[in-house]
Amino acid sequence: MTQDELKKQVAQAALKYLKNVPIIGMGTGSTVTHLINLLADSDFKHEIEGAVSSSIKTTEHLQKIGIPVLELNQTGDLDVYVDGADEVTPHKKMLKGGGGALTREKIIGSASRKFVCIVDETKAVDVLGKFPLPVEVLPLARSYVARELVKLGGQPVLRENFISDNGCEILDVHNLTILDPVALEQTINNIPGVLTNGLFALRGADIVLIGKGSEVITL
Ligand code: A5P
Repeated sequence: MTQDELKKQVAQAALKYLKNVPIIGMGTGSTVTHLINLLADSDFKHEIEGAVSSSIKTTEHLQKIGIPVLELNQTGDLDVYVDGADEVTPHKKMLKGGGGALTREKIIGSASRKFVCIVDETKAVDVLGKFPLPVEVLPLARSYVARELVKLGGQPVLRENFISDNGCEILDVHNLTILDPVALEQTINNIPGVLTNGLFALRGADIVLIGKGSEVITL
């Protein structure tokens, strides 16, 4: 199977977690794009009252298939949030933000009782950090935050020609071997000027679905 076929397969397996959930939380990325397309064709789409979306791209896609998009301020905590990841460990810690939607993803994921992570097998790792760690920063703090990230052993690279849905910039931090993702998530959160970092370790996933060969593994 191609990587894209694996993404579609794992998205198919995630559909059941959205059944009988009136208000769903929806992530961002190509795996989630498959999920929304499958949702459009599902026999329970009409039962979904609305969705909280993690990006403008996802909002537009949800609206296109006729699912109303709600604000998290209106809904309170959600039952289920489904999203992809750039890396995930056997301990269900994730590295996310390759698509640049990490801040809203982290907020909605944190406000959800169940976080379902859907990935193809190329994203399953033992140690996070081979994929550059996205750190969303207020533009005026970019250089200061970059110097602080260098002190932590990383090599930050400004994501070119990119502004997030929140009007911020992203530093992609290379060369990190993240042995303690909870500690590093907290340390980076404490740098003034950082909006969010792409470690989802303090609040990892509850369920991880991995598309591997012709099967889907559940952690
Ligand atoms: C978006 O900001 C990311 O966190 C995505 O969830 C992640 O990049 C996974 O994307 P794909 O599903 O496109 O691989």
